[in-house]
Amino acid sequence: MPVTPFDPFTINALTLKNRFVMAAAATLYSADEQGIITNEEIARINRISAGGIGLFINGAVTTHLSAQTRPRSCMITTDAGVLQFKKLTDTVHKNGTKIACQLCNSGIWAAAFQKTLGKEAIGASLVSDGAYAARTDFPDNFHAATEDEIAGIIRGFTSGAARVKTAGFDAVEIHAAHDSLLSQFLSPLSNRRNDRWGGSVENRSRIHAEVIRAVREAVGPDYPILVKLGVQDSIAGGLTQKDGIAAAQTCAGAGADMLEVSVGLAGADVMKESVLLGPITKIEQEAFTRESCRAVRRATGFPTIMTGGIRSLDLIEDILAAGDTDLVGLCRPFIREPALINRWKSGDRKKAACISCNMCLIRPKGHELACVIEDGDGEENSGKIQTS
Ligand SMILES: Cc1cc2nc3c(=O)[nH]c(=O)nc-3n(C[C@H](O)[C@H](O)[C@H](O)COP(=O)(O)O)c2cc1C
Ligand code: SF4
Repeated sequence: MPVTPFDPFTINALTLKNRFVMAAAATLYSADEQGIITNEEIARINRISAGGIGLFINGAVTTHLSAQTRPRSCMITTDAGVLQFKKLTDTVHKNGTKIACQLCNSGIWAAAFQKTLGKEAIGASLVSDGAYAARTDFPDNFHAATEDEIAGIIRGFTSGAARVKTAGFDAVEIHAAHDSLLSQFLSPLSNRRNDRWGGSVENRSRIHAEVIRAVREAVGPDYPILVKLGVQDSIAGGLTQKDGIAAAQTCAGAGADMLEVSVGLAGADVMKESVLLGPITKIEQEAFTRESCRAVRRATGFPTIMTGGIRSLDLIEDILAAGDTDLVGLCRPFIREPALINRWKSGDRKKAACISCNMCLIRPKGHELACVIEDGDGEENSGKIQTS
């Protein structure tokens, strides 16, 4: 019998009711000035977690003060937010849905905010040339991490993971995609080091292994550890898929339970080839990480979440039946249609209404992460934007 999207799936000690995952979506105003998740954000997540998905992955939460990217970044650097996170996990669990928390260090992308504090951000290397640095928004106040700083960065993930577990999350996900700090270490474009953290892919993924081992120590053997790994940069001179797969093997060997496969850097010029690929109007444009995910799953023998551009139930059935992944991650479709999975389950198989225009990301309407396209525009893909 082929696997179907509504079959359960077990990751370590965690069983999900189906194969649908809400991929992480960090929002600008998810936290208050202390970095604690707001009641409004919990209510928004509640709507999505009640819509039929098996696993909700909470958007990037910052693990280190040097990586704070804005005044209201959601933080897990102290115990202060644990109680409110417990409220979130209790809320989601009432819907029969599991919830993971994504832990992130943004590295150099915290530079603009750090500058307002009179501080520098921390990256893998001080890069100021080449395609990587040629972006209009490329920061100028960061430095290459010292050995002590790398140790502190690893500790940030460890203490963050312990708090995630205390707060009742069912799993932790380590962000190592989209030009976050671990991605900055892995990519030869951003890592020019010639010490044990740079050079070969083994060295460039050493920090991944160290973070995973330390997190495993903190959460114990049964607790699911997911890693969202960018397995290729889709840009000349960047991370190749061959090296991405080697890094995936490193993550698996270090004790991760599952890999969420993503591709591409997240900088402005390369966005069109990664997170912001779009619009997605034809089925051939969907599932843009399928080939990479299949390659990672086959090379590592490890369970995967395939995330990126997945919009159609027919295609999801095909992907699962082909054994190209174990779970599918969708992000923007649930921003537009929180109850998408319940709709599909009820027999309405029409594809997700999200047209992948990215306006919810580029031009949010208010403080809440929400779709800004008028109802009815999805089918025609007209891309009409609400102006209010
Ligand atoms: C508003 C928004 C916020 C996002 N925030 C995160 C994040 O915090 N962490 C992450 O790994 N990816 C983040 N992503 C990327 C998504 O998880 C996903 O990889 C990407 O949108 C492709 O999936 P999709 O085509 O189903 O939207 C974000 C995407 C959007 C649209
Ligand atoms: S604004 Fe709406 S249609 Fe556009 S990407 Fe976001 S959720 Fe999808």
